[in-house]
Amino acid sequence: MTGNSGATPALRLGVLASGNGSNFQALAEAIQAGEIPNAEIGILIYNNPDALVRQRAERLGISTQLLNHRAYPRREDLDHDIVSCLKEAQVDWVVMAGWMRRVTEVLINTFPNRILNLHPSLLPSFPGIRAVEQALDYGVKVTGCTVHIVRLAVDSGPIVCQAAVPVQADDTAATLAERIHQQEHRILVEAVALVASGRVQVGEHRVRVLPTLPEN
Ligand code: GAR
Repeated sequence: MTGNSGATPALRLGVLASGNGSNFQALAEAIQAGEIPNAEIGILIYNNPDALVRQRAERLGISTQLLNHRAYPRREDLDHDIVSCLKEAQVDWVVMAGWMRRVTEVLINTFPNRILNLHPSLLPSFPGIRAVEQALDYGVKVTGCTVHIVRLAVDSGPIVCQAAVPVQADDTAATLAERIHQQEHRILVEAVALVASGRVQVGEHRVRVLPTLPEN
């Protein structure tokens, strides 16, 4: 599946997702609609057999692979199989779109500075699980979502895109998460489009986005 016009070599993505997959779908539909002209999704890897994301991928005609983490004694073993699968699919960049497993050096060192993660808070605030609940419990008035380059520490690494979401007085975790999701769908597409444009330079701590060249 590609949004490639044929002119530029496609950026081939491998997406990792664990459950619902609304972000995967937003990304795949944006590519199919031609919003990221030089990107394509080579494979979706999911780890929960019942994950809804598998059905979304099948509807969109994208290859899927189940790698159930329960079958692996160590995180590194799972990551070895993820790497094999991504290599077989000839993937250039990896997108963790709701991947709820910690990743190891096995994956990170195979795709150095080429793994994106999506997280439902304005990092570095509220890393880890239950980020929306953490933000509500803390009483912040603004939270949001982040796409960043993956480093070994959970939810750490140079930030590519963020969006702010104001917290309303009557918000529950569900209502706030719903509004964060809407922004996630937007910034995930934005981040992949930036990467596909070749304008993203990843430093040790920061991502620099090169300016767009003027058209002749
Ligand atoms: C998203 O909110 C994403 O930020 C979060 O899982 C959700 C997946 O939603 N990821 C993490 O919390 C990773 N730390 P989706 O399955 O509907 O795309």
